[in-house]
Amino acid sequence: MKRTKYTIANWKMNGQKDSYKLVKSISNYCQKMKRKTSKVVICPPFTLLSELIKKEKKMKFGGQDCHYMSEGAYTGSISANMLKSINCEYVILGHSERRTYQKETSQELNLKIQSAINNNLTVIYCIGEKLEEIKKRNTILKKQLSSLPRKIDPKKIIIAYEPVWAIGTGKIPSLNDINKIHEKIRSILSNLVSLSFSKHVSILYGGSVNAANSIDILNLNHVDGALVGGASLKSKEFCKIIDSYR
Ligand code: PGA
Repeated sequence: MKRTKYTIANWKMNGQKDSYKLVKSISNYCQKMKRKTSKVVICPPFTLLSELIKKEKKMKFGGQDCHYMSEGAYTGSISANMLKSINCEYVILGHSERRTYQKETSQELNLKIQSAINNNLTVIYCIGEKLEEIKKRNTILKKQLSSLPRKIDPKKIIIAYEPVWAIGTGKIPSLNDINKIHEKIRSILSNLVSLSFSKHVSILYGGSVNAANSIDILNLNHVDGALVGGASLKSKEFCKIIDSYR
């Protein structure tokens, strides 16, 4: 089963300085690659998005969140159709930092996913357990995945499995565990959505991916790419990650 591979940069609240230089060097690297092994998407903060999309037409970009309403009295928020209006193609939803700090709920995320899809954005939907939840991981993942609409095109959604305890810590699950958990996510999706969806949807790994571990992680048979935080802010390191697929 050939699934699309993705290497996605999540800049979080970083990248203000030298953002264009960073995007340009990643873009140049991607153009020079003989084998296009994965789709590369960069998700900078909102303030940089519009300018980078205009300047670097060869790259794909995503927002890091969107509201579920299309407009209205929601101070500080950005809607899916606003992202679409600047030719943004992707949006990260449900990142653990937003689930924690913005207290995003499954119900709210369901509405956000629907709104993003209605606006023709591809959703990068993040799931993952906290350290104290490892023993009930499957239940947690099932609950988070239940925010997905039941009728959904696998090309319009990307799942990113990011164990919360692995984000920014330098710790990762064992390779065997990563592969097994991804396989489990596929089986949950087969029950929750459909067998065909579960076979076609791309499931990425995120959490302390770097140039030293990316070859091992990205070539596991159930892993379809990476969502990269810290290492995506260093162009050389990120390009090495992009080049990890065999
Ligand atoms: P990290 O972050 O690569 O810095 O661990 C990943 C993420 O939060 O998406």
